[in-house]
Amino acid sequence: MKLKEKVALITGGSSGIGRESALLFAREGASVVVADINEAGGKETVKMIKNEGGNAVFVKVDVSLANDCKKMVDLAETEFGGLHILFNNAGIMHNDDGNSQNTEESVFDLTMNVNVKGVFLGCKFGIPLIQKSGGGSVINTASFVAHLGAATPQIAYTASKGAVLAMSRELAIIHARQNIRVNALSPGPLRTDLLMKFLNTEEKKNRRMVHIPMGRFGEAAEMAKAALFLACDDSSYMTGNEFLVDGGITAAYVTPE
Ligand SMILES: NC(=O)c1ccc[n+]([C@@H]2O[C@H](COP(=O)([O-])OP(=O)(O)OC[C@H]3O[C@@H](n4cnc5c(N)ncnc54)[C@H](O)[C@@H]3O)[C@@H](O)[C@H]2O)c1
Repeated sequence: MKLKEKVALITGGSSGIGRESALLFAREGASVVVADINEAGGKETVKMIKNEGGNAVFVKVDVSLANDCKKMVDLAETEFGGLHILFNNAGIMHNDDGNSQNTEESVFDLTMNVNVKGVFLGCKFGIPLIQKSGGGSVINTASFVAHLGAATPQIAYTASKGAVLAMSRELAIIHARQNIRVNALSPGPLRTDLLMKFLNTEEKKNRRMVHIPMGRFGEAAEMAKAALFLACDDSSYMTGNEFLVDGGITAAYVTPE
């Protein structure tokens, strides 16, 4: 088992990448704090882990609120005695996120609060406990859109994920000599609720699909395996990396027929 006796905190653990990662990390021996704004989904994730004989607890949090982020980190300490893996993964893609002309300021602010400030607050409260626990790994979910511009815009989301990449790099350097590694995970387009609700017609799905060299959307479970690699010692010499797991989308100029 790759995460034996480790404690992991995963935000956005109620569905998609977060849920699959919680399940996989628990199978690899970690005790998992599942943190999410969606209580029903989070409790379901914990139930799934316990049904497999794993160890997990749910906490309801809005990652854009400091008190909530403090609460989830405190729970890792009181329930499991420390923290080794912090997966800042919660994120939103707002339906009304468009270009600079038609995107409301409130949509921009909300997206930045959840996607950027949420990562900042996770680190603000989580990193001291990782230090106290002897070190570990921080993983921040960015996106392929932080690497490429698109004519089908989501201006707030794209800006937020660029900020996650930049912040992850700087965190990695600051904590490099404290036995704390920090990497971003940049998924490609996935078949999860988040993207499928945004690409809500076949036409929109196909418009995106045409750019993916592998010719399919990725799966949350495929991101969980990448997150496990970043979480465990297999990636012990990796920090400040922008781990792209994207079906080839950022490598493509023209895709196969
Ligand atoms: N799906 C994709 O194509 C894709 C691509 C690149 C990056 N990502 C990123 O991956 C991460 C996970 O997304 P997913 O695809 O698994 O989507 P998802 O919608 O299945 O999961 C996101 C989770 O975050 C939670 N969440 C939303 N706002 C929150 C808040 N304020 N506080 C706490 N929890 C909150 C949701 O309840 C949900 O459980 C996100 O950061 C997303 O931006 C997704």
